[in-house]
Amino acid sequence: MAIHLDYTNMMSPPIEGGITAAEWSDAATAFTAAHKAVAGLHADRTLGFLDLPDDRELHRQTTDYVAQLRRDGRYPSDVVVLGIGGSALGPIALRTSLRAPGWNLLDDAARKGEPRLHVLDNVDPANIAALLSRLDLSRALFVVTSKSGGTAETMAQYMVVRGRLAAALGDEAAKQRLVFVTDPEKGALRAIARAEGVTALDIPANVGGRFSVMTPVGILPAALVGIDTGELLAGAAEMRTRCSSGDVRKNIAGTYACLQYLADQKHGRHVHVLMPYSDALRDMADWFVQLWAESLGKHRTPGDAGFGPTPLGALGATDQHSKVQLFMEGPGDKTVTFIAVEQGDVEVTIPKLHGDIPELAYLGGHDLGELLDIEQRATAGALARRGRPNMTLTLERVDAWHVGALFMFLEIATAYAGQLYGVNAFDQPGVELGKQFTYAMLGRADAEQARQEWNLLPKSNPDRVI
Ligand code: PA5
Repeated sequence: MAIHLDYTNMMSPPIEGGITAAEWSDAATAFTAAHKAVAGLHADRTLGFLDLPDDRELHRQTTDYVAQLRRDGRYPSDVVVLGIGGSALGPIALRTSLRAPGWNLLDDAARKGEPRLHVLDNVDPANIAALLSRLDLSRALFVVTSKSGGTAETMAQYMVVRGRLAAALGDEAAKQRLVFVTDPEKGALRAIARAEGVTALDIPANVGGRFSVMTPVGILPAALVGIDTGELLAGAAEMRTRCSSGDVRKNIAGTYACLQYLADQKHGRHVHVLMPYSDALRDMADWFVQLWAESLGKHRTPGDAGFGPTPLGALGATDQHSKVQLFMEGPGDKTVTFIAVEQGDVEVTIPKLHGDIPELAYLGGHDLGELLDIEQRATAGALARRGRPNMTLTLERVDAWHVGALFMFLEIATAYAGQLYGVNAFDQPGVELGKQFTYAMLGRADAEQARQEWNLLPKSNPDRVI
């Protein structure tokens, strides 16, 4: 089992305008400080995500609950995660990477009796109404996930679902179809759980939304659909061990964070692309985009111009027919991190057809996985040839161990990057004003100040509407 990062194509040479030996050597000092700061946050218990791989008690909350559902004959046909952002993107990435393609479309036999997994991640009424109308509510389980326990979108989803469940099944039976995942003490969801006896699993107080995939936020939906959660946590633990050194050359997440930081700050590579060459890992890119963007896009001091790279997801080979043109010839403001997979689970060989047509004959006899792998290497080489920095993260295979390790790798890299950029990677003050304006427009009682601020904003100018 292995994960490797090849960053040859980030450096100068071979990449003109790549990271120089002098910059890399300076980064070693900066990294030692970043590593120490992250270790300090961990030691004083403000940084909880690093403890999750060994938190057996927390893991047991999920396994006990899942076992209880089986014992009670309440095991669902459909699991529906109600949540948004960090409460939704991890479960989506877990489903795509560790369940069979098209999981929710498979019949019960093909899913080996495991439930379908739906994740709302938005409040678009068309999607929610369509899902609710096709579910058998008496066999569905709704996992309401919110660290704060009060996010407007998630609470709106919950209230819609609870209303439907109560109308269809009565309020007592409705409670059996709900489970909450939230802060152990705070928030409306925890208060409802306590008052009404709804089962609630914990997101530790010191773990923020986008770092919470290894809590019941990701672990509960994963366990419910039959993913080996012990292996997920084992992969995450092993990655944490690999990131214990303060020497950047011995720390894979530190290497990644320093390279991205230097590329951005010293060479104007402000856009950081993550491009898996694997359909199974496609939603990992979305998960990473949220993690990197919400953690690093910040002010260092109030009113400064703002810092942070812009993450972008892509999928190989699909985006070779789309975004790669931009990566090759557009502004030289990007790094591309490929994710390659060494061993696929399925082999599909291209038959030797049309041997007399040179544009097709060369394909016959090759495997589709081989084609994907060669295309990844070809794209990396082509970018390098044009002086476009790129690196390749190679996973031996896509399984629970490697996916757990990949989540942890990117989380630790984000924590280091926060230190290098000099920002707090664990808050998100920038989303607050929009929330306050939403409360003001929806008439929330405590939003008077936001209401006044909203009323002072310039109104739409009819001369500027066409
Ligand atoms: O990373 C974060 O903290 C956010 O993206 C949250 O996950 C998102 O806002 C949802 O918050 P909550 O889990 O409190 O409902």
